[in-house]
Amino acid sequence: MRDVLGHFASGVTVVTALTEDGPIGFTCQSFSSLSLEPPLVVFAPGRRSRTWPRLRGIGRFCVNVLAEGQDAVSQNFARSGTDKFAGVPWTPSAHGSPVLDGVVAWIDGALEAEHDGGDHTIVVARVEALGLREGDSLVFMGGAYGRFSAARS
Ligand SMILES: Cc1cc2nc3c(=O)[nH]c(=O)nc-3n(C[C@H](O)[C@H](O)[C@H](O)COP(=O)(O)O)c2cc1C
Repeated sequence: MRDVLGHFASGVTVVTALTEDGPIGFTCQSFSSLSLEPPLVVFAPGRRSRTWPRLRGIGRFCVNVLAEGQDAVSQNFARSGTDKFAGVPWTPSAHGSPVLDGVVAWIDGALEAEHDGGDHTIVVARVEALGLREGDSLVFMGGAYGRFSAARS
């Protein structure tokens, strides 16, 4: 299943928030737009994620859409139990959650609902603010990072 579904290309995000103990975040590929009216997005943290319970406790977070070339950022925020923000530059979003330097877009969300998703949790978040920066997004497919290439018309 991993192999087959890994061939569904997607972007890569890092979901972040600011806690009393500093910034937190985790790499998350299972992100998607869900609804325009009301504005909702969805993503799925694994049951074993250490960061999701902390993000959930804050109830507001920022989805950072990684840019082409940010492979190392993706890998860094996928390492559980490490100081993921060491040496990582960021600025606060409208909510005050970290927007990582160099990202293509950011979406501030508030926790709206959680649903059972087997070994993951389906998180629905209401979009409260968002912003676009420059560049193309990082692409992940078949366990590898790549870049977007527009088809010629
Ligand atoms: C490209 C990529 C995509 C990922 N997508 C997800 C995801 O959608 N959901 C998830 O829970 N973990 C995902 N992970 C794995 C988490 O980032 C990883 O389990 C991380 O260690 C979780 O950190 P935490 O324990 O601090 O939450 C992804 C990792 C990578 C490299």
